[in-house]
Amino acid sequence: MRFDTVATGGCRSYLIGCEATCAAALIDPELSQVDRYMALAARNGLRIRYLVDTHTHADHFSATQQLARQLNVPVVMHGSSPAPFVDLRLQSGELLVVGNLRLQAMHTPGHTRDSMCLTVEDCVFTGDTLLIGGTGRTDLPSGDAGALYESLFDGVLRLDPSTKVFPAHEYKGRTHTTIGQELAENPRLQQRERGAFIEMMQNLNLTMPTHLTEALRTNMTGGKTVAQMLAEAAAIVPFMSLAELKACIEREKCDFIVLDVRERDAFEEGHIHGARHLPRGQLELRVNQELTDPTQRILVYCEFGRVSTLATATLRQMGFRGAVALDGGMKAWREAGYPMVAGKGV
Ligand SMILES: [Fe+2]
Repeated sequence: MRFDTVATGGCRSYLIGCEATCAAALIDPELSQVDRYMALAARNGLRIRYLVDTHTHADHFSATQQLARQLNVPVVMHGSSPAPFVDLRLQSGELLVVGNLRLQAMHTPGHTRDSMCLTVEDCVFTGDTLLIGGTGRTDLPSGDAGALYESLFDGVLRLDPSTKVFPAHEYKGRTHTTIGQELAENPRLQQRERGAFIEMMQNLNLTMPTHLTEALRTNMTGGKTVAQMLAEAAAIVPFMSLAELKACIEREKCDFIVLDVRERDAFEEGHIHGARHLPRGQLELRVNQELTDPTQRILVYCEFGRVSTLATATLRQMGFRGAVALDGGMKAWREAGYPMVAGKGV
């Protein structure tokens, strides 16, 4: 078995490959590491055949759906996953065949209802069910401390004590542990009585993970993150620097429309000389009245440079092939001390 770990902060992903056949499975990939997984598989001479999420992640963005589109291979989760884009839903005991390797699913609800562990050879990938010196939390949506108790003590912890444990999270840089070691040393597993275990889990008072709602929204539905939307827009538009725009204005050589897509108050408080005002929220509805020449160059700006990137992508999709976004926004323009005018504009 060829085995690689990719750490993203405290998140762990695993690329498991069969050396005889070059088939591989990728477990718990994270969205910001898509290029790394592809490069790693290529370097190792592996072809990724399955994309597996051990559960619906609430603290990071899963890359399974994007990689599934790129690689044309199935997304695998437990049968109770709510995500509509899952192609293969495993039940407890079922096997995933990866070349000569057999990954066996074990349903381990508790951290989430759809949590599963995967055993292969002498290893178990425990997702967030069992961590090194800890367990997954049970206070997030679909978490259940009683279910976690059963999943641990009647499930994962009954594996052979020498089984190597590879969790989905590790914050102290340790590579793995074993079932025996966790049974002996994991503080949360010293509560062997069900009621006491549940009480302990319900009183951890953990802070909510950042990006909780966005992670659940995208991981449960297959929808896009805001960062993905911005990256996709930025990929199809050209940009103009603040200095270039300032130089054009100074030389009075603006052969393009300068379009301010902020709200009216912000525009009237201060805008770039000669700018036209068309708020992003009204762009599609007023574009035919306001921008009558589709061949015209249009330089779009907003406050921070993000809304203008989206607006420029929209304009280009509508046929305005000369639409360009300002690299930066009014905030940067002001901070650079570049000239502005107040009022209703042209
Ligand atoms: Fe999790």
